[in-house]
Amino acid sequence: TEPGLDAALALIADVPDFPEPGILFKDITPLLADHSALTAVIGALAAPGRDADGRPVVDKVLGMESRGFILGAPVALALGVGFVPVRKAGKLPRATYAVSYSLEYGEATLEVHQDALQPGDRVLLVDDVLATGGTARATVDLVGQCGATVHGIAMLMELGFLSGRDALGDVPLTTLLTV
Ligand code: PRP
Ligand code: MG
Repeated sequence: TEPGLDAALALIADVPDFPEPGILFKDITPLLADHSALTAVIGALAAPGRDADGRPVVDKVLGMESRGFILGAPVALALGVGFVPVRKAGKLPRATYAVSYSLEYGEATLEVHQDALQPGDRVLLVDDVLATGGTARATVDLVGQCGATVHGIAMLMELGFLSGRDALGDVPLTTLLTV
């Protein structure tokens, strides 16, 4: 495992009653602000994009707006590949594929540029938190529309009590911390 990873994860701060009463918010900004911690976390999130000898095996890293951008772009650099943003509806300027999914309240749509991936590309998805799994599931479906393959999903945190993992079928999921 990545040196310093436990110390890095210990910097995630618990904030009770945010954004509303009864919710315990996991604030990753202290981790992001610490260079050693950020280095350890980016290294650990990149690991599922490598083979047993440490060689990168993915063609692109996809990050989900918006917190997935913070972690995904440095993971792409660590693996020596490009970064593709998966954006909320209406933000991308050219032809997109879109997937809608239900949230606790209402519906959300994610989009990716149609030419962002080539058929046969292998990709690593990166985000901060797996909650219900809706965001990750929608992104897996977008990758499928592109004719590409999800090699793995790497997340900083998993909210185990929401069982989001069950929404992802047999796509390999790596999370650094389960809460
Ligand atoms: C949060 C989090 C994940 C997603 C997880 O993003 O950053 O992307 O929710 O939830 P799920 O597994 O139930 O889909 P949010 O949509 O709040 O937006 P943000 O990243 O822009 O803050
Ligand atoms: Mg998010």
